[in-house]
Amino acid sequence: MQLPDASALRMPRVIAVASGKGGVGKTTTSINLAAAMVNAGQRTLLLDTDLGLANADVMLGLSPRFTLSDVFAGKCTLADTLLEGPNGLLVVPAASGKQHMAQLSAQEHVGLVHAFSELDLPLEVMVIDNAAGIADGVLTFCQAAHDVVVVVCDEPASMTDAYALIKVLGRDRGVQRVHVLASQVADAAEGPALFAKLERVVSRFLDITLNYLGAIPRDEWLRRAVQRQEAVVDAFPSAPSAAAYREVARRARQWQQPTGPRGHVEFFLERLVGQPAAPGSRTP
Ligand SMILES: Nc1ncnc2c1ncn2[C@@H]1O[C@H](COP(=O)(O)OP(=O)(O)OP(=O)(O)O)[C@@H](O)[C@H]1O
Ligand SMILES: [Mg+2]
Repeated sequence: MQLPDASALRMPRVIAVASGKGGVGKTTTSINLAAAMVNAGQRTLLLDTDLGLANADVMLGLSPRFTLSDVFAGKCTLADTLLEGPNGLLVVPAASGKQHMAQLSAQEHVGLVHAFSELDLPLEVMVIDNAAGIADGVLTFCQAAHDVVVVVCDEPASMTDAYALIKVLGRDRGVQRVHVLASQVADAAEGPALFAKLERVVSRFLDITLNYLGAIPRDEWLRRAVQRQEAVVDAFPSAPSAAAYREVARRARQWQQPTGPRGHVEFFLERLVGQPAAPGSRTP
């Protein structure tokens, strides 16, 4: 019997991208983080859990033939939903029949476990683009992930809603650490200032560690990339936002490697089905 190579035995690093308030830049962050990971040689899958107007597949110019809803309806296999994005980035489009993946039943999650395990993908990274807010499904995806990135921008509602999200993640879901990414910043001082503001209240009232992941400048090149339905890291690699996203991806690659015997998406979905995890049972 041929043994799989060591990298295939590693489980994928699962990164959930979330925010309190909508429209701050989660989908932009998810596609650019995923694209930057792929460009750095990491086999990456982007799971779109939010059926909004600006879906990840729309932003990448992909046209889904099937979604997860079709898998549940028995119309196709999971492999049929996989779209191939730029440079081999794999994209699972948002389910069209459901408002949110959040509304999937536990049974449907179990179905997914089997379906994903059949795919046998040797993934290294999985990025989950979430809906805004603190819906149950968002919390579950964040809980199932190894790392949670909370995107904020310089608006009072973004900050208060981010605090509310971080609070429930820590209190109800046993999340111990959250990475904060400042989006659409006007200058170099804005990101650290937003982080300091959040950190002040979080360290005072919550038992959760915040890590400053960095800042993405407000960037006209990024808007142009959106119009071209491309990730800015691919369309305009020398744009300021592209450099910032590459730096975010570089930092994310330095996070502690998840340990475990398997290297399949199955692991991620099993975590979902197995929830709620007791605090402290998460890895790392
Ligand atoms: N760094 C940036 N510079 C300029 N525009 C940006 C930047 N980041 C995001 N945007 C723009 O802001 C808008 C919202 O971004 P995006 O769709 O990524 O947010 P979201 O958090 O996913 O929203 P939703 O909560 O609706 O899912 C988009 O039009 C996007 O092009
Ligand atoms: Mg979005």
